[in-house]
Parts: sequence; C-alpha cells; structure tokens
Amino acid sequence: MKTISIVNHKGGCGKTTTAINISAAFAALGYRVLLIDLDPQSHATIGLGIDPDSFDRTIYNAITDGRVHISEVITRTAIEGLDLAPSNIFLASAELELSETSGRLLHLTGALTRVADEYDLCVIDCPPALGLLTLNALVASTGVIAPVQVHYYPLEGLKQLLKATAYLRKRFHPCSVEVLGLLLTFVQERTVLSKQIQRQTRELFGNLVFDTVIHTNVRLIEAPSAGESVLTYAPDSRAAADYSLLADEAIAHLASIGKESTLAPALSQRREHQPSGWPTTRRPAQPTTARTSTPRPPRQQGFAEKTRDKHAT
Ligand SMILES: Nc1ncnc2c1ncn2[C@@H]1O[C@H](COP(=O)(O)OP(=O)(O)OP(=O)(O)O)[C@@H](O)[C@H]1O
Ligand SMILES: [Mg+2]
Repeated sequence: MKTISIVNHKGGCGKTTTAINISAAFAALGYRVLLIDLDPQSHATIGLGIDPDSFDRTIYNAITDGRVHISEVITRTAIEGLDLAPSNIFLASAELELSETSGRLLHLTGALTRVADEYDLCVIDCPPALGLLTLNALVASTGVIAPVQVHYYPLEGLKQLLKATAYLRKRFHPCSVEVLGLLLTFVQERTVLSKQIQRQTRELFGNLVFDTVIHTNVRLIEAPSAGESVLTYAPDSRAAADYSLLADEAIAHLASIGKESTLAPALSQRREHQPSGWPTTRRPAQPTTARTSTPRPPRQQGFAEKTRDKHAT
C-alpha cells in the first residue's frame, strides 16, 4: 500500500476537496483505496455523504487505542473501490492524548500497517495544522501532496512543510516521506494574480509542482453538499477532468519516487491482475530533500488524458 497525505497547514486551500476527489479518481482507475479522515472537522466524511456521528468508533479509536483494529472503524462508501476511515469531533482530543505517549508520531503508521495488504493506495486528509495528527500522517506516508491556493504568495508556509518532511525522513525510521508534488488549486486562467502566482511557484519549486492544476469550479462546492465526489456528481465537468488527470500524474510521481516502473498499470491491466502486489518495503532514507537532481520521467499518456477533450467544459 502506498500512502499519500494531503497536507498544508494553511486552511481552506483545497485539502479535503483533493483528498475526496483524488481518492475517487484512483478508485475509478481500479485501485483499492482507503481514505483516512484525519481532521476533527470530519469534512471528508461528510463530503462523502456519511454522518460522522453515526459511528461508535472512528479513526480516533484506531490511533489512540492499540486494541482497536483499524478495520473495525473502516466503512464502505458509495464509490466502488473506496473505503473510508471516518472521523468525528472526538479526534480533536487525540493531539493531547498522543502527546502523552511514547512513539507519539508512529500511531497512525502502526494502525495502517494492519491493513497494508488490503489496499493499493491510502489517502489521508489532514487538518489545517502541523500538529501531531499531521506529523503522524507524514511519518506514515510515501508521499505528500500540498495543495497551494493561487490567491496568495505561498512561499513561507511551503518552506515549513518541506522542512518538516525532511526532518521526519531523517529522524524517524522507517519514515521515507517525500513531497509528491505541490498542487495549484483555485486556478483561474484569466486572472493576472493567478497566472503570476502559478509562474512564481513553478520558478521557485521547479518540478515539485504538479503539471496538473485544479481550476476554480462551482461543481467542487456543490458535490460535497450532495455527499458525492465530483467524478460522480458532475462527471463531465472540468473539475472531474482535473482530478482524473491529477490521479494519473500522482501515480506517475509515485512510480518515480519509488523507482517502481510498474506502478502505473493501465486500467484494463489493473482490473485483470488485481492485486498485483506492489512492493511494500520503503526505499531507504535519502540524505537530502531535493528531488530536483533526479528529473521526473516524461508524463505518461493516461486514462484521464485520453478523455480530457471529452470533459473540457
Ligand atoms: N477548485 C475549487 N473551486 C471552487 N471551490 C473549491 C475548490 N476547491 C475547494 N473549494 C471549496 O473551498 C472550500 C475549502 O476547500 P476544502 O475544504 O477542500 O479546503 P481544506 O484545505 O480542506 O480546508 P481546511 O483547512 O479547513 O481543512 C470548500 O467550500 C470547497 O468546496
Ligand atoms: Mg479540510
């Protein structure tokens, strides 16, 4: 199982929207996907049409009480191939409880190890803070996607995030988290500020920035109110196309950081040969954070790209 955290301590930049929709897009590609709602606001749970108060046990129990197996808190969603570990407001006390334990950064890693063979991909929706919950997510992750709202200059916050991932990789065995990509969100092609911030971010962070951007799109506001991903709520929308492209690109980036060329199987192959048994061992800790010295392979023509023209509305 490969784990991707959606992280940015800035609020409202599109983390939950990205977590829900990239998970749905991965599931549409035929992967077995687990979405972890690691935010006490429970927006990922609610956004999938699930009532956070309907559970006796949530991800909170799985990470604070070793006797609770994470599979006891996982629930199916309406999307085939996508399961959810929900949260509710009790998760808010986890920060304090974890801070009083030894191995306080390893609780989520321990919980996820228990279902590592049951899923191909795990996506974690993080809260808007670099606290213990987010640090647990980073330690458990193969890669991080950091949504960056193109409404303000993002440098300072991103520097902190990059420093945190480098620190964790150095200090916490077996953590090998890498930044999978910075994702530009709320992109409006026509505004000068949006263009300027896009350009500056690409100049500063080079190939750490995803080629795919997420445009501002009203369907992304409507879909969670309907309890759906945008891929099912508005499959012909630009937002659905954006997130399908992102899923393809994220798979390619995962393959490039893991040097595992078999990570991006075509949809048909994937369905025929599940599970293909991705390597579960992580690559050893790297001495530096920068991936700029090892350029990514050229993007592969994926399922989403082939259908982009159809969706470009
Ligand atoms: N590309 C987009 N276009 C239009 N609206 C969007 C887009 N992405 C997200 N939104 C809306 O912006 C709001 C904030 O998005 P979201 O909840 O995903 O951010 P977040 O980073 O998870 O916030 P928080 O930090 O509070 O967890 C939501 O109302 C969401 O529907
Ligand atoms: Mg959120």
